[in-house]
Amino acid sequence: MQALTAQPTEGLAGTARVPGDKSISHRALLLGGLALGETRIEGLLEGEDVLRSAAAMRALGAEAERAADGSWHLYGRGVGGLVEPEAVLDLGNSGTGARLLMGLIAGHPISAVLTGDRSLCSRPMGRVARPLEQMGARIESRSGGRLPLTVIGTAEPLPIRYELPGASAQVKSAVLLAGLCTPGRTSVVEPTPTRDHREIMLRHLGAEVAVEDGGGAGARPGQRIVTLTGQPELTGQKIRVPADPSSAAFAAVAALMLPGSELRLTEVCINPHRTGLYQSLREMGAEIAFENERRLGGEAVADLVVRGGPLEAIEVAAERVPTMIDEYPILAVAAAAAKGKTVMHGLGELRVKESDRLAAMARGLAACGVEVEEGPESLTVQGCAGRPPGGNETPLATALDHRIAMSFLVLGLAAQRPVTIDDGAPIDTSFPGFAEFMAGLGARIGPARGARAPT
Ligand code: S3P
Repeated sequence: MQALTAQPTEGLAGTARVPGDKSISHRALLLGGLALGETRIEGLLEGEDVLRSAAAMRALGAEAERAADGSWHLYGRGVGGLVEPEAVLDLGNSGTGARLLMGLIAGHPISAVLTGDRSLCSRPMGRVARPLEQMGARIESRSGGRLPLTVIGTAEPLPIRYELPGASAQVKSAVLLAGLCTPGRTSVVEPTPTRDHREIMLRHLGAEVAVEDGGGAGARPGQRIVTLTGQPELTGQKIRVPADPSSAAFAAVAALMLPGSELRLTEVCINPHRTGLYQSLREMGAEIAFENERRLGGEAVADLVVRGGPLEAIEVAAERVPTMIDEYPILAVAAAAAKGKTVMHGLGELRVKESDRLAAMARGLAACGVEVEEGPESLTVQGCAGRPPGGNETPLATALDHRIAMSFLVLGLAAQRPVTIDDGAPIDTSFPGFAEFMAGLGARIGPARGARAPT
């Protein structure tokens, strides 16, 4: 445990690059482990979640090396060429790592046991197991479809057309990864489009991926159908991982809440399936510009220029969830400083993330003197039209959740009194060096007074 306190700060300024995108980093490692020849990855997120995926790919027979200049070099086994791991694969805190690997293993004639930390072992995996079983794999899990579980892959996977019951990029990706080893065409029908990094990267490495958008031949309005032609020959390529918009969100919101701040966050991925937070913040009156827009390996990137100033409350419709699923905790923090009542709808899925994020935000905001109402699938925050009180009496429980930890530290920077969290260690899963990064921009985040030094 590593209790941290964020002190009220005057303003943030500077130019910086947040670490690489977590979603793209996982995908690069998994596909690099299948591609033939060398896949060179620059800017890989070296957070714990991603390093677990790298270790898993090594256990499945791929070569993955980190060079002195920080680039990663993968030498894959070819589609269908993974080998059975000798030991249990421990994915730590990573839902993305666990779910994507389930798909990858399911299409190979191998078995593997997957486990994780207390948080990951409480999260539902049945949503991934169901389509993989339709493709011919067997999944033996703990009750409620939870980890630890065993994936018994199949030598003869069947192509399916799978209608996702809810929007989930992880489930889509798992099915497409199994589809790589499958003869014929595997299709995933999305009720609403989710992040498409997998599709972009598959094309980059040489696979055939077709996309039909709503209203087209086979797709209903709003739907998106992704079809992969199986058993492609993937060829290693150079992949540069852009900065993570979900990580940039913490610095951006901190700057917005501190009038006089001006930040430039460089090379941030602005894939339209990831930018819902920025759209919402602009609706709140925030000054956020995307400058120097360009493409990096098929992904759209830009420098985000953010200036602090007053925010107004908004109502966020459920339709926005897929484009900002991980950003509601930090939006709730921004809402605490806005003028008026912000209402966020359609948040049921937040209850099965790294923690029950809906409950954690409601509890933590209330402990910091912010008026908040938690519905079964919604969150209402009464903004303070300026600095929220802060000054929580007992450290906030972050429940092994990196985004809850960072959100409340940002609240502390923009509050009247300091905010303390019980454990900053989970932050390393997605944003190693967060406190130092923020310090470089003028923030004050450090060990809580009276807290034991981290072990
Ligand atoms: C992710 C998808 C999202 C997100 C997670 C990363 C991905 O989960 O919450 O942090 O990389 O595919 P769902 O697809 O379950 O919504």
